[in-house]
Amino acid sequence: MPEGNWFTFEEHVQACCACDLHRGIRNKVPGQGDPHSPLMFIGEGPGEQEDAQGLAFVGAAGQLLTRMLQAISLPRERVYICNVVKCRPPGNRTPDMQEMQACLPLLREQFLLVRPRIIILLGATAARAVLNPDIRITRDRGRWVERKGVWFMATYHPSYLLRSPERKAEAWKDLQSLRAQLMAMKLYPDLYDTLHDN
Ligand code: URA
Repeated sequence: MPEGNWFTFEEHVQACCACDLHRGIRNKVPGQGDPHSPLMFIGEGPGEQEDAQGLAFVGAAGQLLTRMLQAISLPRERVYICNVVKCRPPGNRTPDMQEMQACLPLLREQFLLVRPRIIILLGATAARAVLNPDIRITRDRGRWVERKGVWFMATYHPSYLLRSPERKAEAWKDLQSLRAQLMAMKLYPDLYDTLHDN
């Protein structure tokens, strides 16, 4: 992301040793996509494939995320995708509170660079870290929350959908809701024709 403060951000990510997760990783995974996207996706943390490639959501869950975006006619390169933690937790365990807290300044820095208007939180871990520690994903998914002009919605994590395909119908509703919100906010006027609801 060769642009202004993105260099500094990249340096901060690479230099970070604010928790122990950086020990034993192959690559940091800062996130990638359109650096000024109006739409940001935040997952939990890198998995094996992401750790190997240094890119967010490139494994099986990432492929499902790509297909979910395609389902609402959104090319993946038009969004920004990252995670709460930038280093793979050993064995893909859930990052703990201290690790997520240690990584939040990087997420904030990233948020200030992208300045998205909508943030989709993928799974309970991201939703709890960013929005509200009391979130229960089955109860709270699909609800829009506005904070300081930014709209947030939590939905199921694609890895969970791969394990629990019976939840895909609810995820589909969330995607339709996202599409409607993008249209209402006129965030991708070239993709969504608001007159004809294509
Ligand atoms: N799961 C995540 O939460 N993030 C990734 O980048 C890949 C899988």
